[in-house]
Amino acid sequence: MTIQRICCMGAGYVGGPTMAVIADRCLDVQVTVVDLNEQRIAAWNDADLSRLPVYEPGLDAVVDRARGRNLHFSTDVDGAIADADMVFISVNTPTKARGLGAGQASDLRWVEACARQVAKSARGHTIVVEKSTLPVRTAEAIRTILEAAQAPLAEGEAPRTFAVLSNPEFLAEGTAIRDLETPDRVLIGGEDDSSIDALAGVYGQWVPGERILRTNLWSSELSKLTANAFLAQRISSINSVAALCENTGADVREVARAIGTDSRIGPKFLQSGPGFGGSCFQKDILNLVYLCRHFGLPEVADYWESVVHLNTWQQHRISRLVVQRLFGTVTGKRLAILGFAFKADTNDTREAPAIRIAHDLLEEGAQLAIHDPKVESAQISRDLRQDAEVPDAGTGMTAKTLSGQGAWWAAGSVEQAVAGADAVLILTEWTQYRTLDWKDLSARMRRPAWVFDARAVADPNQVRAAGLTLWRVGDGAQ
Ligand code: UDX
Ligand code: ADP
Repeated sequence: MTIQRICCMGAGYVGGPTMAVIADRCLDVQVTVVDLNEQRIAAWNDADLSRLPVYEPGLDAVVDRARGRNLHFSTDVDGAIADADMVFISVNTPTKARGLGAGQASDLRWVEACARQVAKSARGHTIVVEKSTLPVRTAEAIRTILEAAQAPLAEGEAPRTFAVLSNPEFLAEGTAIRDLETPDRVLIGGEDDSSIDALAGVYGQWVPGERILRTNLWSSELSKLTANAFLAQRISSINSVAALCENTGADVREVARAIGTDSRIGPKFLQSGPGFGGSCFQKDILNLVYLCRHFGLPEVADYWESVVHLNTWQQHRISRLVVQRLFGTVTGKRLAILGFAFKADTNDTREAPAIRIAHDLLEEGAQLAIHDPKVESAQISRDLRQDAEVPDAGTGMTAKTLSGQGAWWAAGSVEQAVAGADAVLILTEWTQYRTLDWKDLSARMRRPAWVFDARAVADPNQVRAAGLTLWRVGDGAQ
């Protein structure tokens, strides 16, 4: 079976870039990305490519080449499903906020809604591909819905048949286009060879055959959770060592280099920082924890849960030490936060360490000027669950400063963020923060002034030479 028409449900950080690359590489496949969110679809169709809803280096060029040719963005969900011979489900699956499994299990209501919509609108044979990160055995639930929730056949309509595949996404935000164009591997889990071959045929147009791995459905679903759990575990491991370095005079970067040259360990994912964020790591580990408890493996559940605990601890540790260094109080003090996205080169803030750290500091009554090159003020406001204030142009104070309540506003530049500040916190490793003019920034700050570099991107010599007191994650020499 050769795939000619693909529909992708969900035009988010995964669906958008993935479909753009498929369309770019498979000229004979028509790809339609659908979403219920009209604004999002309008943004994907915006003639101004700088306004795409997802910021991802290289994405604009790919969309520019394929859009209108064989890449389409639409809100006509039913029409796109009816036309498609393959439907990707790439919708959000956040952690459940309430009810059974709250705080751990994934909320599958959007996936279920998709399965029902496919059952209703599909025509003929349709291959349904799970792309969203899902708990193990979701494919079974999808299949049950596909079989049971179909609309009656129109007169003369051929019976509907379905196959379900798992094809987890391994792209990392910020490098999504590169990851999609030259993936380490593509994983396809399924039960019938012809469906697996059909999807492998799509990827095979640009991915070498030996990189396309085939497994059964459950192995594929579990591999995604396990890959993310292993990656997140490395970050918690190095962050735990960073804390020890700070107390023993060691430097976590030297330790990381020393252990990373062991080919069994390898050099990647050993960057200590303010803890991992992003939509996947915490959610996937918590899914794993939930599954382990469900299957009577409490020791295994506790083991993985500790990776998340260490991550949360690292974030609170950083906000605590900021307060401690600033003489035990940040009430009314001006702090500049550089970087709000969960990592560089994305406008995504889901689970960003900056959210928890900023929240802690607001609780302490701090006045935060937040700068990020790609995150919009409205997003920060939603994440902090607090509206932005307007600081007085002369004093830099807000209405809340004197009352001791925490306040924040978005700064248009690093210089604006830093003006009058007692401390600068670097929370995202944006390239522009690596080459800041610390002499100039230092002159704009109130004395004594601190730099808390949670990403270790600033040049320590320049920061110190500018008369600033520096704390760097994992640096025991300070
Ligand atoms: C991750 C997985 O890498 C990807 O395969 C999966 O499909 C989705 O989840 P993503 O969350 O987009 O991707 O980005 P990633 O580069 O993995 O970074 C996740 C978090 O870990 C970020 O907050 C990042 O700053 C942090 N991180 C990463 C570190 O703190 N140190 C490191 O060494 C690497
Ligand atoms: P991800 O990072 O997994 O791509 P996002 O939240 O960025 O997650 O994107 C998921 C998208 O899926 C959202 O734009 C949301 O509107 C869309 N979505 C959710 N349910 C449906 C549905 N039933 N049909 C189409 N799109 C949906």
